[in-house]
Amino acid sequence: MKLRLPGCAVEVVDEIDSTNSELMRRARAGRTGRVLLVAREQTAGRGRLGRGWVSRAGESLTFSLGLKLAPADWSGLSLAVGVSLAESLHPQVGLKWPNDLWVADRKLGGILVETASFGEGAAAGRYAVVGVGINIAPRPETGLSTPPAALQDLDPAVTADTALQRLGAPLLAALEAFEAYGFTPFQARFNARDVLRDREVQLSDGTAGTAHGVSEAGALLVHTAAGMRTVTSSEVSVRPRP
Ligand code: BTN
Repeated sequence: MKLRLPGCAVEVVDEIDSTNSELMRRARAGRTGRVLLVAREQTAGRGRLGRGWVSRAGESLTFSLGLKLAPADWSGLSLAVGVSLAESLHPQVGLKWPNDLWVADRKLGGILVETASFGEGAAAGRYAVVGVGINIAPRPETGLSTPPAALQDLDPAVTADTALQRLGAPLLAALEAFEAYGFTPFQARFNARDVLRDREVQLSDGTAGTAHGVSEAGALLVHTAAGMRTVTSSEVSVRPRP
């Protein structure tokens, strides 16, 4: 791993429970420097909504980027991360709201953003841990279910190392842009890669409608029988209807 990121430490470990858990532990212990922690293997990888994240050693890219952030508004942070990753990886990588990377209607990768507070009084702030898992090599078909997408489906020569080289610096720059300007500069870029756009979607509360891109704050706009609904990730999950 030859990645160098100006102003950011880069650490690579063979095995860890979860790169997100490790950077959250460090933040709670007062270690709040900028760091990109890459693991070849995670024994307790975590996904969104309390799910696990299973990845195969050498066949996926798993890392977390930890940094202090002080945006005026945190809305849309994980969507901005998705925009940056998709743009760095390949023109055919799409975004499924809120922050899955998709290729040809299958999941390529996921993002888990967590934050921890540090300091007190005037020195208080928040440390963000941006965790990313991307499938690099295709998983063999088992016949049980459709395998997830892999980056090598699009670019057979890509490896976890070359993918990380490509996305590291732009990701850091995107986080700095988000801190300064919020989600606004990412809105049109998200919508350009939105795989749900103009598709029928089903919300987890049972509502059905047509997806119409994301708002300035990164909420999903869904046209339902009751009018346009602004969906935030804490409310519902969404899936395309076949
Ligand atoms: C999701 O789609 O549910 C999000 C998956 C995020 C997985 C990454 S892998 C690196 C980092 N460490 C973790 O435990 N999770 C994130």
